Amino acid sequence: MINIAIDGPAGAGKSTIARMLAADLGYLYVDTGALYRAIGVNAMRRGADTKNAEQVAETLPSADVSMRFVDGEQRVFLGEEDVSLAIRTPEASMAASNVSAIPAVRDFLLDLQRSIAAQNNCIMDGRDIGTVILPDAQIKIFLTAAVEVRAKRRYDELLGKGMQAEYADVLAEMIQRDEQDMNRAIAPLKQAEDAVLVDTSELDLEQSIDAIKRIVEEKVS
Ligand code: DC
Repeated sequence: MINIAIDGPAGAGKSTIARMLAADLGYLYVDTGALYRAIGVNAMRRGADTKNAEQVAETLPSADVSMRFVDGEQRVFLGEEDVSLAIRTPEASMAASNVSAIPAVRDFLLDLQRSIAAQNNCIMDGRDIGTVILPDAQIKIFLTAAVEVRAKRRYDELLGKGMQAEYADVLAEMIQRDEQDMNRAIAPLKQAEDAVLVDTSELDLEQSIDAIKRIVEEKVS
């Protein structure tokens, strides 16, 4: 199977780009952040403090997380409940970042991610795909952009979805998440040695996709 790993901070454009590229190549697009979000939402619903490793670990046996692909589109389930929308709130983002620093949570999600990659040509996006989950991925990309640019994109996205948001809050939350995701002890966000760096600060969506397509074509051919 061919696996393409795309890692990088929140708002760099990973999901949009990976989704479009996957459709282009006929690969499965796998958004691993959605799994951490589902664990975070499950923990919150069960009254756990999402920063407390013990409390979160106690919720894991009840976290029946699965991914289902409907017309190539990933949906995330907790048991039989489709939580694909519920995991997108700002609270769920912070809960995901909190629980993702807990080793038991990362262990819990490891096999699920590896087995999907073993069975499908896929583009998997996350924070540690190239470094930990799929160290043998044929193509690794580290996608980033200046934090102000990423916050502006996320802010526009939230408004576009009809949600209420303040740019200053989105920026502050993004700085805090970057800080947590890059400095945690286990599987921190960092560029794999063999990943190609793409900075989209000055690129629009089309230019970003072109840049990544060139890298993929070069490596695959
Ligand atoms: O990609 P996202 O914003 O949906 O991810 C939500 C959180 O999950 C993010 O703050 C860090 C964490 N995460 C992770 O630790 N490892 C991954 N492979 C994907 C996400």
